[in-house]
Amino acid sequence: MNSKTNLLLIVLTFLGVFIASCGADGDASASRSTPATTETTDPKPQSDAPADPMQDKGVGPVKDLTLPAEIDQAMAAEGEKIYKEKCTACHKPTKKYIGPAPKGIFERRHPAWVMNMILNPEGMVKENEQAKKLLMEFNGTPMANQGLTEEQARKVLEYFRTL
Ligand code: HEC
Repeated sequence: MNSKTNLLLIVLTFLGVFIASCGADGDASASRSTPATTETTDPKPQSDAPADPMQDKGVGPVKDLTLPAEIDQAMAAEGEKIYKEKCTACHKPTKKYIGPAPKGIFERRHPAWVMNMILNPEGMVKENEQAKKLLMEFNGTPMANQGLTEEQARKVLEYFRTL
């Protein structure tokens, strides 16, 4: 091999690398623009919570709850005591006050949602669409976390059923 052929090979090699890198660059920019277009035309849903409030279990410690057909009157009486002590500053049983009236709440809300609203109001107004709407309806006055145990909250729910 003479020096002229060597030089030609070197030049060809550089030319090859140059062309290849141009091609790669072009490909990269093409694939970069593709997901951007997909994002704007197909936005992801904000939340996967069901639109029907009766199906919405909310966010918090209670994942599900089915109320038995019969009301447990002893449990409801204990719930009423807890309610009078911790909730009546803002809630009246049958009338809208600082917060909504709990009468008929299970015609509007899933029992698990109500439990989570009592036990985890901070998380609910941050992450649950129904709770966010409610907060807006009450002009940004938040539901207070009264530090109830799950058992106490469940008793309050039983009392709500008697209203
Ligand atoms: C400092 C006032 C305050 C106290 C005390 C309070 N709440 Fe509330 N509550 C609110 C307000 C205001 C709302 C509506 C706005 C919101 O949810 O952010 C609400 C909403 C609720 C809801 C949802 C009602 C609906 O119709 O969807 C439930 C259930 C509830 N409260 C139960 C209770 C219980 C049970 C207690 C006692 C352990 C209690 N609250 C104590 C102010 C209060």
